[in-house]
Amino acid sequence: MASCSSKASLHVMFYFLFAIYFLSFEHCCVDANSTLIVHNATTVSSKTIPIPDTFLGVFVEEINHACAGGLWAELVRNKGFEVRGPNNTLNVWSIIGNESFISVSINDSSCFERNKAALQMEVHCNDKNPCPSGGVGISNPGYWGMNIEQGKRYKVVYHIKSEGEEGDFNFQLSFTGVGVIEVSSNITQVPEDGKWRKVETEVEAKATNHYSSLQITTSKGGSYLFDQISVMPLDTYMGHGFRKDLFQMVADLKPKFMRFPGGTYVEGYHLQNKYQWKDTIGAWEERPGHNNDIWNYWSDDGIGYLEYLQLAEDLGALPIWVFNAGFSRNEQINPSDLGPYVQDALDGIEFAKGSPESKWGSVRAGLGHPKPFDLRYVAIGNEDCEFSNYQANYLKIHDAIRSAYPDIKLISNCDASVTPLKHPADLFDFHTYTTSKDLFSMSTQFDRTARSGPKAFVSEFAVWRKDAGNGSLLAAVAEAAFLIGLEKNSDIVDMVAYAPLFSNINDRKWIPDAIVFDSYQMYGTPSYWVQKLFVESSGATFLPSTLNTTSSNQLIASAISWKDSTENKNYIRIKVVNFGRGTETIDISIDGFPVGQQFGCTKTVLTSDNVMDENSFAQPTKVVPQTSSAVNVESKIQAILSPFSVTSFDFLIL
Ligand code: AHR
Repeated sequence: MASCSSKASLHVMFYFLFAIYFLSFEHCCVDANSTLIVHNATTVSSKTIPIPDTFLGVFVEEINHACAGGLWAELVRNKGFEVRGPNNTLNVWSIIGNESFISVSINDSSCFERNKAALQMEVHCNDKNPCPSGGVGISNPGYWGMNIEQGKRYKVVYHIKSEGEEGDFNFQLSFTGVGVIEVSSNITQVPEDGKWRKVETEVEAKATNHYSSLQITTSKGGSYLFDQISVMPLDTYMGHGFRKDLFQMVADLKPKFMRFPGGTYVEGYHLQNKYQWKDTIGAWEERPGHNNDIWNYWSDDGIGYLEYLQLAEDLGALPIWVFNAGFSRNEQINPSDLGPYVQDALDGIEFAKGSPESKWGSVRAGLGHPKPFDLRYVAIGNEDCEFSNYQANYLKIHDAIRSAYPDIKLISNCDASVTPLKHPADLFDFHTYTTSKDLFSMSTQFDRTARSGPKAFVSEFAVWRKDAGNGSLLAAVAEAAFLIGLEKNSDIVDMVAYAPLFSNINDRKWIPDAIVFDSYQMYGTPSYWVQKLFVESSGATFLPSTLNTTSSNQLIASAISWKDSTENKNYIRIKVVNFGRGTETIDISIDGFPVGQQFGCTKTVLTSDNVMDENSFAQPTKVVPQTSSAVNVESKIQAILSPFSVTSFDFLIL
């Protein structure tokens, strides 16, 4: 019979009672059907594995409006009118006023060379036909409503050309449901064309409307052109343009790397719509934006290549740039025609990490970031290995980068978890989206992977479809089991990221996701919370342990030792996943401590009443980890594991 050895003296009776509660000893000292022994927890042996510092990271892809209408705080959607309705009509924008007062269309007369679309507005009001009160004009709803909050400031910019007398115009700005105070305004000429003006106004909101719209109105007749209309909150992360609440959700995952910008987003459904980093840098007004045809929406590239690198830097994560290796989902470039792709990759690396004196490093410096970014990894394409040209294209790009940047680690997207690669690489990219049962059993995926080959970069994984719903507990529990398997194999698995990271609830192209949001609110799915339970694994030490169980198809466990460097405290963390529908009792013992030594211990449990339970805006914390703490816990405990649960114990060592 397993011993139950939490002790208490008379002086600490309170703690004793609390420890009983904490450890859920509803049946204290019953026969457990499982035991977990953590071996020699205080000594380094050949079986301890230093888990890589870079173990857990994030994958930021422009999918589900993760960036445009998400992390990038720009509130105006289709700000350059590049997306048109049928017959050059408005898209997303709407007209304020009827046709006897105003008519609009889209034409190609913008002053911006790389995005020629502009809005032509004819205002027919005059003395005989005065405009209705409040004027006429255009309105933009943003991405399913603009979050305008009382006391916050917003910078509104628009470009206008008046074709009336001396370029005269008189437009007013407003936000529906919210009065604003004008803080400052400025009108300048746009250099390329003296007749275009840039109007910049800073306003402060007098009330809150989470789903507001921008309105630009006039009561003055005339003919006008509009282009590049922007509303940016001033309150963004470090003024870098990232929505603060969403940034914080990612930062809380303590990502050690950030893979970007895709995914299939990098490839496009058609090559003409692939991600082209050179089109995403420089003044926002001049970025052409592009049709994200794989996820079926327009990307204004507000988060361009520079902003992705900045985001990684702000998160304290190493950037991992994925670039196009000559493939869309439907086309492939022949190796003989790959020259421009190779050059683009080399230029992109130079932009990120070249000195400010280099050609592309100087462009970066000119854009305000003279210090090179810490780009140590690049991925040669995404999920292209099935294409007949991949091997040859890969080698061309590999050789060019290897010779120019010998230190950069190169990532192939051919799976080497079972069969060795046919080409040289530092890492191979591994993706899996599957059922919960399958992912649970994939915890052994890397057990037999050759240790002599490149390391694994598990850059996309998740349970999906029926088992996942919109983000279920069931999916999260299986993902925790998979992560434990990756920890066990962290001698060969270097880096891991869940995918996708973000979804705007109004356009969920891919379900499930880790973080769901709308204009102002958000929640983490159970999968997000599982990742939080693993954040301390990066840079920790994996400790050997033995799990004996009669429930071998449903239990998996691991132990790590980790250090909280801010508090200078050392912990042993034991995680146990119960993937079964029955309650389990487990005896856990940590070898290596004197009998009677007592520890402070924190127990964290992720579970819920129903395995398909999800979080939502109405119940954002329905399935989140619950934490309790106790003192005077010994190194042998008995614990009860709820059905479909992830339980983590942190023993404070010193
Ligand atoms: O994460 C969503 C998509 O899944 C990615 O774009 C792609 O790489 C994978 O197929």
